[in-house]
Amino acid sequence: MNARKLLLNNIVSTRKIPPAYYINVHMILKKVKAFSLIILAIGCYFFPASSMFIKPDKDDGLALTPPMGWNSWNIFQADINQAKIEETADAMVSSGMRDAGYNYLVIDDGWMAEQRTSDGQLCGDPQKFPLGMKSLGDYIHSKGLKFGLYECRGYLTCQKLPGSYYHEEQDMKTFAFWGVDYVKLDGCYAERNKRPSDVDLSIYSEAIKKSGRPMVLSISDFGNGSWAWGAKDFTHLWRTSYDIRPNMESIFYCANTSGGNGVIDSAFNGLWQFAGPGHWNDPDMLEVGNLTSVIQDKLHFSLWCMLAAPLMAGNDLREMPDSIRNILTAKEVIAVDQDPRGFQGYKVFDNGKQQVYNKPLSDGTTAVLLLNMDKENADVTVHWDQIGLHGSQKVRDLWKETDLGYFNNFFVAKNLPQYGHLLIKVGTPGGKMIAGPQPVPVEKYTVTRDGTTWLSDIYYLMKQGDAPVKDKNFKGKEISIAGIQYKKGLNCQTSSRIMYSLNGKADRFQAVVGIDDAYRGDAPAQFKVYNGDYFGGQVLFDSGKLGKDSAMKVDVDVKEVKYILLTVDGKNVEADWADAKVIAK
Ligand code: GAL
Repeated sequence: MNARKLLLNNIVSTRKIPPAYYINVHMILKKVKAFSLIILAIGCYFFPASSMFIKPDKDDGLALTPPMGWNSWNIFQADINQAKIEETADAMVSSGMRDAGYNYLVIDDGWMAEQRTSDGQLCGDPQKFPLGMKSLGDYIHSKGLKFGLYECRGYLTCQKLPGSYYHEEQDMKTFAFWGVDYVKLDGCYAERNKRPSDVDLSIYSEAIKKSGRPMVLSISDFGNGSWAWGAKDFTHLWRTSYDIRPNMESIFYCANTSGGNGVIDSAFNGLWQFAGPGHWNDPDMLEVGNLTSVIQDKLHFSLWCMLAAPLMAGNDLREMPDSIRNILTAKEVIAVDQDPRGFQGYKVFDNGKQQVYNKPLSDGTTAVLLLNMDKENADVTVHWDQIGLHGSQKVRDLWKETDLGYFNNFFVAKNLPQYGHLLIKVGTPGGKMIAGPQPVPVEKYTVTRDGTTWLSDIYYLMKQGDAPVKDKNFKGKEISIAGIQYKKGLNCQTSSRIMYSLNGKADRFQAVVGIDDAYRGDAPAQFKVYNGDYFGGQVLFDSGKLGKDSAMKVDVDVKEVKYILLTVDGKNVEADWADAKVIAK
């Protein structure tokens, strides 16, 4: 055991005094802080939040392929310490993970002391990380790895430790001083910041630039629409889902947020059009090694690679069996994820039991995943015309790293058991790139016209919950509130969120809200209209609790509003946004 490990294993005291290097950084940052607080105060007084918005040119060359690494959360949650992290760094090297491309070691929530120092500095929990975060970063770097650290843009982290709100610049400077290369920025409590998310994140993006150290910015807003409102101008990856869990239901839910219609109008066929080099949809970190069978782990990994998802391992690397190591380091499978073209895979077939995904690659071939979710064994077929090819095509099995031969017009993966799948590469490398599908044009999902635009006539960009049915209710009948029927509108079941792009074009949003007459229960519903996303915290309209048989008119000013979020809170209710429309002059 080296001297450093010996020291770590023997530390028993709960040192409250920060290590010496904190003192240097404190002295420098104290002066900077006093100055920046004055500037911030002047700025806040003279300029409203929206005019402080700076649209940075995020052409920083970072994350040109989806980031790969390991993150502490899925396996350890907040139960982390210096020894565990250093052992994980060692294991990343000895297992071959680093050499397979996993270069970020990211420490998630739970690393920091409960209080900032008297001059506002963050520091590591002195019991968990007695040598401090810079020392830990140095260790990680000494292994040829990059250092990632978690923070939150709310005033607290999700584990109720000090968040970065109001300390953005100071914290990014501290991170830079510690040698951080990757920031995972969470969203808990961020709605209290009362800043639209683009404003909030432009502050971090600027703070990172000012720190002088390039850092990947990965944000977690649990799938609240970052792809829609333009997080790609400020961040490199954003979450599309709530937290992943180690079971297949959760794996398919997360995959469906990015690769299916889990969080967007079905017209988009998933979020593929919002991803590309430098900006990625993130269906959350990997649970490979934490699932109940190797076939599940393998399918989860294949799906994430097809979705050009960030590959952040979340298992205990210190005791990883070969079966899991072989999955996480499978060269030809990782190459699909890391393909420099950065085209996210999309579904070409889904009957609820079997699915086929396609991901056009930079070498003129395309990767195809054929999978069976059903308990019954099944054959799954891909026809070349579904993936932009025809005639006789070469097929290679990417897990087995074996050519399967040439196939005319289609290929069948035979007799797949539940979670069984084949990941194949179709075509001959070196040819012209396959075009891939056309993205949905902007005018189909944003307000572009003068006069009235019914929201049910354009595509929504984000949804959560069972929302919405357009121009009828869930039972297929006309929308009806308190005995009055409406031809246009949106009907939502249970609590729901829907986001539309207004593009700053509309002047007023109007609707009639209430519980649909088809609803048989007696629970109330609360309707709200937000400017931007939920985390902006800017409520334009709030109905309060509405019972059955009461309708309320909504008529709000939405001038210069870029995105509008319609939310309903209520248990199992069927709620209507009847006649929902925007009016532009
Ligand atoms: C959640 C986040 C998780 C993890 C956790 C830490 O909000 O989605 O990935 O970071 O917070 O508290």
